[in-house]
Amino acid sequence: MPDTPFKDTLVFNDTLDANSSSDHSQSGDASPETSLHDIQDASRREFLKTLATTGAALACTATLSAVLAACGGGSNPTNSTTPPPATGEQERFAASSVPALATVGGGALRTFANRNNGNPVLIVRVAAGNGSDVFRAMTALCTHAGCTVDTPGTNAWTCLCHGSRFSIQASNFGAVVNGPASRPLQTFPTTFDGTNIIITF
Ligand code: FES
Repeated sequence: MPDTPFKDTLVFNDTLDANSSSDHSQSGDASPETSLHDIQDASRREFLKTLATTGAALACTATLSAVLAACGGGSNPTNSTTPPPATGEQERFAASSVPALATVGGGALRTFANRNNGNPVLIVRVAAGNGSDVFRAMTALCTHAGCTVDTPGTNAWTCLCHGSRFSIQASNFGAVVNGPASRPLQTFPTTFDGTNIIITF
């Protein structure tokens, strides 16, 4: 998956104003009633401070747990580059509707609603080696960290996030040409009926 920044939005709404009570300690009033009041007031302030600190710590712990869960942290990380299971569902479209597929080596990115988990699919026209051309399709979701492999090249397309390159040659379609990715891109069975390209997910 692409790198997903998380912005820590911890917010503490401390409405407890420990200094809101009047402070008599500097008044010079030494009457017994006032001294007792000062002692009670100081105790109340200390109690409120302790309560505020404890509440903030609890809020921080709860929010941190939520952030870690969203990040897939801890002992159960989420691997967003895991390919979806095959469904057998098909998509078809006219080859002529994609100008980039008019020549060998040409490729284009397309998405098909929720197919491939909604991630782009890279479709390429390749030379089959027997004088005819065929179409091939694979996910454009980089197996390194989930960015999109979206930069065309003669023999390979590149993921610009960290520079991984994947083959678009018929003999090793989707294979890693350069890392850091270590796994090939998931390919999808693709046929051509003379007019339409049919991709099976
Ligand atoms: S996400 Fe790192 S090279 Fe593609």
